[in-house]
Amino acid sequence: MKFFVDTAEIDQIRELNDLGMVDGVTTNPSLIAKSGRDILEVTKEICDMIDGPVSAEVVALDAETMLAEGRKLAKIADNIAVKVPLTWAGLQTCKALSDEGTMVNVTLCFSANQALLAAKAGATFISPFIGRLDDLNMDGLELIEDIRTIYDNYGFETQILAASIRSANHMSDCAKIGADVATAPPAVIKAMANHVLTDKGLAGFMADVEKAGIKIL
Ligand code: E4P
Repeated sequence: MKFFVDTAEIDQIRELNDLGMVDGVTTNPSLIAKSGRDILEVTKEICDMIDGPVSAEVVALDAETMLAEGRKLAKIADNIAVKVPLTWAGLQTCKALSDEGTMVNVTLCFSANQALLAAKAGATFISPFIGRLDDLNMDGLELIEDIRTIYDNYGFETQILAASIRSANHMSDCAKIGADVATAPPAVIKAMANHVLTDKGLAGFMADVEKAGIKIL
């Protein structure tokens, strides 16, 4: 499973990228607003740092303006994936941009039917939002499973990009289901390294290091 990092914070992307943990980046208008940066500038900086796809989201609601915004975003770098919402206008924009050879990430997906439409419209990525479904006591992981089944049934090449990930368990669950990509905030990716038995085991080893006066350097 590929790891995308879900942030527009340059330092956090760099830290994970230096460790080889970043296959791509996703942003959205809320993450751009949080960064306090200009969308075009910060997106260009991320694209220069990362080899993989960098999602940048349109902000218009009608297809014509979305398409113009998407074309402008696509000009930032070759690794831009234009992110469009899963609305009818978003699907129209997805089809037009993918026909022009631009990668498209269709976002705000909450049902298998929406994912089916995005694949038909030529989406490179579909972003089902796990956490926001879980917040409503619905099953976000079941949606990932359903989309996996449907895409595999018909050989759709659209990649399942599990989004709105809130926990380390979401990451392993998505990997077990077979999501192509998971995008997560840096804190969630770092939390994947944690285990209480690792901490306990290390504390025991350190106590023995102290007791025996073990030194290496
Ligand atoms: C990524 O593409 C999404 O915009 C993001 O994962 C949404 O996450 P949230 O539901 O935690 O805001």
